[in-house]
Amino acid sequence: MAGNPRVLVVDQDFETRADLQKGLVRAQFIVVGGVGYGAEALSLASELKPNAVLVGVEEPAARAHQTIESLTELLPSSPVLAYSSMTDADSARKAVVAGARDYLTKPLKMDDVIKAVQTAIAQQERRQALQSGEPVSNLRSSGMVVTIFGAKGGIGKTTMATNLATAFVAINAGSAVIVDVDTVFGDAAMMLDVPVEMSLVEAADKVDELDRESLGSYLTLHQSGVRVLPAPFEPIDWRNVSPEAVGKVLTLLAQTHDFVVVDCPATFTDLVAVALEKATVVLLMTSLDITSIKDTTTALKLLSGGINNDDKIKLIVNHATNANSLHEDDVSKVLRREVFWSIPHDEGIASSAQVGLPVVIDRPQSSVSTNITELAAMLAGIEFKHGENGYGQGNGGAASGLLTRLFNR
Ligand SMILES: Nc1ncnc2c1ncn2[C@@H]1O[C@H](COP(=O)(O)OP(=O)(O)OP(=O)(O)O)[C@@H](O)[C@H]1O
Ligand SMILES: [Mg+2]
Repeated sequence: MAGNPRVLVVDQDFETRADLQKGLVRAQFIVVGGVGYGAEALSLASELKPNAVLVGVEEPAARAHQTIESLTELLPSSPVLAYSSMTDADSARKAVVAGARDYLTKPLKMDDVIKAVQTAIAQQERRQALQSGEPVSNLRSSGMVVTIFGAKGGIGKTTMATNLATAFVAINAGSAVIVDVDTVFGDAAMMLDVPVEMSLVEAADKVDELDRESLGSYLTLHQSGVRVLPAPFEPIDWRNVSPEAVGKVLTLLAQTHDFVVVDCPATFTDLVAVALEKATVVLLMTSLDITSIKDTTTALKLLSGGINNDDKIKLIVNHATNANSLHEDDVSKVLRREVFWSIPHDEGIASSAQVGLPVVIDRPQSSVSTNITELAAMLAGIEFKHGENGYGQGNGGAASGLLTRLFNR
């Protein structure tokens, strides 16, 4: 290799990143940058073309894995090495499946890190010497696609989509866009009180002419900073909208946004299938009434059959009404799946929606706002501390009460 190795460090945790950077510099590496997950890491990697990338992986690991996957596809000749405090074989395997060449466990010994980076770079050089031909720099989706689905109407899918996207932006996790794939009854734009000038249908229609910049003209900016690609104002037959084109739109949006939140209808359409296929995470919403659970059972069977990775389906219980006939424990038993998250009942959700504001910004200190914001932070893989963002002081504890709320309610 000509000159000292150039390394990029990707970690959501600033302190770990800084320590690692210092150690690498001491060992005569050139640290080209330190950055968090997602689009920023991708664009920095693309611009600076490091010889190797070190990625910190901590729970929830989905975003770190996605960043590893995107980095390895973007820069196939720059080995990505993961490090983590998770020492079990399954965590290591997942990082390797995502594309990591090595998996180092914490506490990190600087000597081991240096040796691992040097080995990975040397191995890469040998591989390149064996191959002729240039590596293809093929930028793929880098943002996290969060598809919100539920088998029943009125269980809070659009409420979740609008609030989650807003929370991503408010906690500075990155940019967010909501895509409404319900071309018949889609109401995300209405819930956010934004005009529908251009919709998913027009964008899909022109997708072959669109690039990342021109796609922006199809998006409407909400006052929260969230962009919206709404459903058409006049309902149309979804079968006229090409699923392939919608898939391309989602890919383009994921290349330009950190979070693409897809609001689905309550039925399995071809467009829903595309949104599920493109998803990094599927939030499967259910309420606590017997018909919703029955429909969710069917939905899970269909989803598990048609989705490439069952792990990405996360069950969300939304207490959309107070008249619940079941408990969450029953739901877990019937669906044979853990409840990943619970959203509390809050009458204020509807009144906020009436003024076109997601409750997370209209009443940021309510417990439902805190709850959804914590979910956003968990999905984004960042730590949410009340009062350190545009929300002001929330009224709940952060991570401490998380497990209790998740599983013991
Ligand atoms: N946790 C909650 N507490 C109180 N009200 C809620 C809650 N979640 C949703 N709602 C209310 O439930 C109603 C339906 O919500 P929403 O429109 O988000 O459901 P949906 O699943 O998107 O419905 P559709 O399938 O028709 O699109 C809304 O009036 C919303 O304000
Ligand atoms: Mg809806």
